[in-house]
Amino acid sequence: MDKKVTVVGAGNVGATAAQRLCEKELCDVVLIDIMEGMPQGKALDLTEAAPIEKHDAAITGTNIYEDSANSDVVIITAGIPRKPGMSRDDLLSTNAGIMRKVSEQVAKYSPNAIIIVVSNPLDAMCHVALEASGFPKERVIGMAGVLDSARFRAFIAMELNVSVENTHAFVLGGHGDTMVPLPRYSTVAGIPITELMSKERIDALCKRTASGGAEIVSLLKTGSAFYAPASAAVEMAESILKDKKKILPCAVLLSGEYGINNLFIGVPVKLGAKGVEQIIEIKLTEDEDKALKHSAAAVQELVDVMKTL
Ligand code: LAC
Repeated sequence: MDKKVTVVGAGNVGATAAQRLCEKELCDVVLIDIMEGMPQGKALDLTEAAPIEKHDAAITGTNIYEDSANSDVVIITAGIPRKPGMSRDDLLSTNAGIMRKVSEQVAKYSPNAIIIVVSNPLDAMCHVALEASGFPKERVIGMAGVLDSARFRAFIAMELNVSVENTHAFVLGGHGDTMVPLPRYSTVAGIPITELMSKERIDALCKRTASGGAEIVSLLKTGSAFYAPASAAVEMAESILKDKKKILPCAVLLSGEYGINNLFIGVPVKLGAKGVEQIIEIKLTEDEDKALKHSAAAVQELVDVMKTL
């Protein structure tokens, strides 16, 4: 393939992302992990599935960053996942250390790459990746809004018994309890869901969306979601690799947009070959704006804690 994507972290999210990338024949894939043998084993297993899945993407498993050199996109999933009872924020200090080391290596070997951050707490980890890589802000993007919106879309489709393909949703803000689902901008076949459901049902779906990650953690007990997070990261990678210019909610560094400065937070952006090609400022009601600012304050608090570590 003429494109190369490195996935850092060969756990559930990383390995599933690698599988989706190669099965969609988007790129060659390098799967990196510190665990010896594990990325190699998963890469070989995926390679042996290729004749059946009918793709010719090369998959390499490795423990060294030299093998990732000159990647177009690097998806960082490395870090510990949460266990039942833990919030994403509880992962802060461990994952900040991992993110720093990984981002430095990425910048060294793939200076022109676009980084997609998946590790939690997501918005705070984006700050670490930006600083440690030294990349411009257009090339460090957090995966959260696509996942949270996909959850919202799945719940809308279940509620109205319609195809998921007819659904569209926007969830903005930080990737935590304060995230901001926007019912006014969430639609079924172009019809806002505010026309199709009662306020009570919409509120219930928004609440389930905001605790969507915790719902999976409490069912799995030993880890967190990975199928939908991997799908979300791959949708972002695809838009970049093919220069599709999709508008997707992603965590990006704001510089005054939405009245927020120097903070990563989820907003709609255009993703193309250059990374973040445009930040779309949609009009918010007073309540929506208040919710977004509240979410931004929660992210800012974590970023401030990180400075003291
Ligand atoms: C979730 C984790 C991956 O939302 O943040 O499931």
